[in-house]
Amino acid sequence: MRDALGLNGAEVFLRISVIGCGYVGLVTGACLSEAGHQVICTDIDAARIAQLQAGEVPIYEEHLGELLDSCRRAQRISFTADAAEAIRASDAIFICVGTPPKESGAADLSAIDHVARQIAREARTPKLVVEKSTVPARTGIELSRALKAYGKDSGVQFRVASNPEFLREGTAILDFFHPDRIVVGVEDEIAAEQLREIYRPILERKFHCPVHDGKCGGNPQATFLVTTINSAELIKHASNSFLALKISYANVIADLCEKIGADVEEVTRAMGLDPRIGAPFLKAGLGFGGFCFPKDIQAFIHLADSVGVDFEMLKATERVNKQRLDRFLDKVHKALWVVKGKKIAVLGLAFKANTDDIRFAPALEVVSRLLAEGAEVRACDPQAIARTRAQFPQVSYHEDPYEALLDADAALLCTEWDLFRTIDWARAAKIMARQLVIDGRNLYAPAKMRELGFEYHCFGRAE
Ligand code: UGA
Repeated sequence: MRDALGLNGAEVFLRISVIGCGYVGLVTGACLSEAGHQVICTDIDAARIAQLQAGEVPIYEEHLGELLDSCRRAQRISFTADAAEAIRASDAIFICVGTPPKESGAADLSAIDHVARQIAREARTPKLVVEKSTVPARTGIELSRALKAYGKDSGVQFRVASNPEFLREGTAILDFFHPDRIVVGVEDEIAAEQLREIYRPILERKFHCPVHDGKCGGNPQATFLVTTINSAELIKHASNSFLALKISYANVIADLCEKIGADVEEVTRAMGLDPRIGAPFLKAGLGFGGFCFPKDIQAFIHLADSVGVDFEMLKATERVNKQRLDRFLDKVHKALWVVKGKKIAVLGLAFKANTDDIRFAPALEVVSRLLAEGAEVRACDPQAIARTRAQFPQVSYHEDPYEALLDADAALLCTEWDLFRTIDWARAAKIMARQLVIDGRNLYAPAKMRELGFEYHCFGRAE
């Protein structure tokens, strides 16, 4: 098949354009460029492109800056606000634009539609058009129809493929270079082979990645899975939804543990030792947030409803997750009695550790409800302060947790940053107005906290 592509055994790097310079687009662009491809990235946000052209990284993702610098030095990556230039300069186009939720819960696919029309209008040579953004099943069919309809005058051949990403924010670079599976949903063998070429350096460990001490130069054990486009699209939603379901399951177990007098940490640890269940994503607490799980579940439920399949267990997953916040704030109310006028230290704002992303972060909802009740909120987060300040200017922000804890009536742990794992609570006890910790991530040992004189509440660990 490589011969059918005219490759004749040679090492071939394709010219790739990436449309959309958000988390997914920038990581995809940087990693494909580091793997050896010539990459051109574009975005409708001209200010973002100007930042990237000036060598700045508009988002926080570990190692992304180093990787972009390395690609820039090798002259394998460039940025343009002119989408037409990016489209014309490439053989393969990765669509990485946003697919946010609409009021109804359905994914808003207008950005994908816009890009499709742009590609159809500007392309002069055959293109492989790859959906990287998370989209509901059957989007590929519509994408293909749009490309044909709007590109009919040029007669350019388009191949559509779905190549869902399974990157976690915070470890996205490592995830990209060390995939468990690379899923490609295609219409024909040629598209599959083009994508195999694109991922060949990663599948064959053919390069030395400058970050992670070169340890992440690819994963020969990764499964390269060729499917239909519909299946590939479904794999993404089915995977994220299943992980979210696991979290909600653990959270209900936590509620049961609290009532019965058991310890959810012990229970989920034992469950996770069964390889059929697996340990990850059984951590009980404040529940899941971020821009992926909440919106993907909604879109998946919507998709199922639209074809007459009632995905009841996903609806329950969503319901359980929404209740986590109420359960957390119940604990706050019970412990503090009156919230109005209290100084409350909120430890962690990002939706999880190692990211500056605050989209659908449980902590922000906590902050919003505390403020509405008249509390004085002082927040601490290693990365997410700037973004949160824009939304809640009335909060006082601290990079040092001890500053946030000074004179506080309570500390609410919302994000499991390492910075908070290492807090010296004996020291904190001396500077807080009241020794009260409500732990939304089960980060601390209850016995230890109580030994230090704290009133300590968490999830699913009998008091
Ligand atoms: C998630 C998936 O893990 C990725 O595979 C996927 O590619 C990505 O969505 C996406 O669709 O783009 P991400 O949103 O970065 O990645 O975050 P996760 O690390 O999966 O965490 C999601 C949420 O679940 C966080 O709020 C986290 O705090 C919460 N969580 C996670 C728990 O409450 N308990 C757990 O045991 C694990």
